Amino acid sequence: MISLSRPFLFSAILLSHTLAARAADTFLWDRLTPSQDLEWVQCYSTFQCTRLEARSINLRHDIKFLKRFVQVPLDYSDPNVGTAALAVIRLPANVSEAQYRGPLLFNPGGPGGSGVDSLVANGPSFQAVLGSQSNQYDIVSFDPRGELSEYPLHLMSLLSGLDDPGVRYSTPIAVFFETDAERALWNAAAPFASLNASSDAIPQAWGHAHLLGAIAAQRDTSQILKYLTTDNVARDMLQITQKFGFEKLQYYGISYGSVLGATFAAMFPDKVDRILIDGVLDSDAWFSANLTIEVTDTDKALQTFFDGCAAAGPDLCAFYKPTAVEIADRLTALTASIRTQPIPVLTPAGYGLVDYSLLRLSLLGALYHPFSLFPTLARGLAALENGDGSILYSISQEPAFLCDCANNTASPPTDDSTVAIECGDAIEVTDSIEEVTEFYQNAAKTSQFAEFSVGSTRVSCAGWKVYREDRFKGPVAAANTSFPLLLVTTTADPDAPKAAALKTQAGFPGSVLLTQDGPGHTSLSAPSLCTIGYFRQYFLNGILPPPGTVCPVDATLFGASANSTSKRAALSADEEEVLAALKVISDSVLPVITRKMRRRN
Ligand SMILES: *[C@@H]1O[C@H](CO)[C@@H](O)[C@H](O)[C@H]1NC(C)=O
Ligand SMILES: *[C@@H]1O[C@H](CO)[C@@H](O)[C@H](O)[C@H]1NC(C)=O
Ligand SMILES: *[C@@H]1O[C@H](CO)[C@@H](O)[C@H](O)[C@H]1NC(C)=O
Ligand SMILES: *[C@@H]1O[C@H](CO)[C@@H](O)[C@H](O)[C@H]1NC(C)=O
Ligand SMILES: *[C@@H]1O[C@H](CO)[C@@H](O)[C@H](O)[C@H]1NC(C)=O
Ligand SMILES: *[C@@H]1O[C@H](CO)[C@@H](O)[C@H](O)[C@H]1NC(C)=O
Repeated sequence: MISLSRPFLFSAILLSHTLAARAADTFLWDRLTPSQDLEWVQCYSTFQCTRLEARSINLRHDIKFLKRFVQVPLDYSDPNVGTAALAVIRLPANVSEAQYRGPLLFNPGGPGGSGVDSLVANGPSFQAVLGSQSNQYDIVSFDPRGELSEYPLHLMSLLSGLDDPGVRYSTPIAVFFETDAERALWNAAAPFASLNASSDAIPQAWGHAHLLGAIAAQRDTSQILKYLTTDNVARDMLQITQKFGFEKLQYYGISYGSVLGATFAAMFPDKVDRILIDGVLDSDAWFSANLTIEVTDTDKALQTFFDGCAAAGPDLCAFYKPTAVEIADRLTALTASIRTQPIPVLTPAGYGLVDYSLLRLSLLGALYHPFSLFPTLARGLAALENGDGSILYSISQEPAFLCDCANNTASPPTDDSTVAIECGDAIEVTDSIEEVTEFYQNAAKTSQFAEFSVGSTRVSCAGWKVYREDRFKGPVAAANTSFPLLLVTTTADPDAPKAAALKTQAGFPGSVLLTQDGPGHTSLSAPSLCTIGYFRQYFLNGILPPPGTVCPVDATLFGASANSTSKRAALSADEEEVLAALKVISDSVLPVITRKMRRRN
């Protein structure tokens, strides 16, 4: 099993040790001729890959050109504009023609998450989660236009010594910088910071957003950026489905993937076979560049850290105090101390400062994946009190910039699609510094974490300049979809609160909302056999959970007696396998989502 999980936790040093082992797993997408029909070739051992022309014009796939922009954008309302080539991957079905149920598409969120990476890492785990009948489906994912898989490319460019590491997946790709060295310089000059880090944080972020918006617009000489919007990705999903010979979409999308799924349902209500969206954002808020509602439950998620730590005790929670209030106070004191005195960290894997922004970002990141990250977060906070920032640094650092600069070869390529999609989708934001400051202050009434995604998205979009007039603008709703949507939320999702899921549900009469009773981003953040049971019923049998269903989580925060209860002992082998598979998926997809959050500058 190829594990592509948690790329950002790997240091350069660790990475180099894994290179030899992974050599056989790399796959050169550029060697594939884009096709109008799905012609599959073996890739990544057990998978099959193809590149799909979304339109009937042949793309001249020019490697050199891929270093920055592809020649020809794709416009569904004007076929003459050109094509996009989507990298599609599937874990093939293995049943007779009569039993075959077509493609089940997965989108891992972001936006900017690579479906290819995600499926390579998780395909077999998805099969385990869906159960024995999952072999009736082709489990399929794709790199949305503009987006780029990272991890295999990372390996490829390091491994193969290609003098042109322009081995790209889907095209066109959103890339703003001439070289990755230029991007690294940009990131160093305009680091992702809390809007509350200092009095000039908002003016600085606003200024950088305008600069980045200008760079993106000026270098978009092929004029592709305006075509990367979510409505076009929804159209692409219909194309992919039809290439498999099916008329209606079967889809599982998490986080931003919920915006994609709901947008599809609004645009093509009669093409819905199954749409399960998990970690549901308010799509209308998305299309108005106002994510304030998405942090409705973020502070509640932080409260679960305090409550869980107090309940777990000092052995399991290193940041323990007898009451939740005392733990909250302890964190406030630590935060105030770090604000005035950042901690330098120097480890074999890298170096930097644990400052206010990194501390806050570490906290927020842990809220996405509490069942996995809270113990480490607690250890990191306790160590930080003693002047040791290495644990927090290691869980939040960005990967080091790898560049064989002497040979002038680039580090792994990176796409800039997140801001292009997020802002290109939305209404045109023209906020002044005063206006974004007011916007942030208003959002901060909803959550103390408005300093990140809510505020930074608004600021980024204030600098964005590339829009397509005829893009889909909502409302994200449909009176009658050809099959009801299943929506899934948790009780304390830091980025996709129940309020957003309820708003989305109201737009799709007949849809059902399932609530998983625990904190975390998407249901994947915690093991729940109950939730998975409903997933299977929905996809395999078309049965929706009863309205108002709440599923318990089969774990406790900080691992407190999670595996010593009688309930746990009663699990069957199949259930154990499902829980193990869920952990593989969450360990893989959630770090990518939190990492993409930081691309919003
Ligand atoms: C399908 O499953 C059968 C039985 O497990 C196996 O022998 C065969 O190799 C599989 N075929 C494919 C294409 O995976
Ligand atoms: C953003 O949405 C919030 C509600 O979620 C609302 O209070 C606020 O006025 C909105 N801001 C703008 C600029 O539309
Ligand atoms: C860099 O260049 C040197 C000298 O030409 C060569 O020996 C070395 O192998 C090159 N490194 C890579 C990664 O290509
Ligand atoms: C900004 O940081 C200060 C100092 O840590 C804190 O008191 C304040 O509540 C923060 N503001 C917001 C809106 O979270
Ligand atoms: C909803 O759509 C289905 C099929 O797409 C159709 O049979 C049904 O009559 C529609 N219901 C309403 C209320 O429009
Ligand atoms: C859970 O099980 C593992 C190994 O089976 C054991 O090492 C660990 O101590 C157990 N944890 C608890 C909280 O019982």
